[in-house]
Amino acid sequence: TNRTFTMLKPDAVEKRHIGAILDKISASGFRIVAMKLTQMTKGDAETFYAIHNERPFFGELVEYMTRGPIVAAVLEKENAVEDFRTLIGATNPADAAEGTIRKLYATSMGENAVHGSDSDENAAIESAFHFSGREIF
Ligand code: GTP
Ligand code: MG
Repeated sequence: TNRTFTMLKPDAVEKRHIGAILDKISASGFRIVAMKLTQMTKGDAETFYAIHNERPFFGELVEYMTRGPIVAAVLEKENAVEDFRTLIGATNPADAAEGTIRKLYATSMGENAVHGSDSDENAAIESAFHFSGREIF
């Protein structure tokens, strides 16, 4: 088995989609091994998304990710990173496959409901950013 890291982003929390999204994640074979409601500071978001800091949408991304609480979670499943990226769908919900979380719950590229780590290495970094060892089961 291995692990990935996810965030249910502020738009998903605002629209009260936490329950539906977690249900879909569990039904898709992922086990939740860490989870909390938290809010990122500007500094947190700038660090978390540092790879995008030269992009034109960076300011918008930081505003979005810090405007309200998120659900941060660590998920366990065989092939977790790749399978979770498949479950969430394309970054732009207009391109996301039927039945994916972004197709169902995202509204645009800038408000796309969920995050999923893009590699095992980033999953470990991102999990450690949000959780201590004692908070991961
Ligand atoms: P994450 O799982 O959140 O990392 O999304 P991703 O891996 O599918 O996309 P990527 O890492 O390339 O971009 C990170 C996030 O930046 C996206 O999920 C969007 O929230 C945001 N983003 C990407 N492109 C755009 C854009 O063109 N405009 C806006 N407003 N936001 C964007
Ligand atoms: Mg990404």
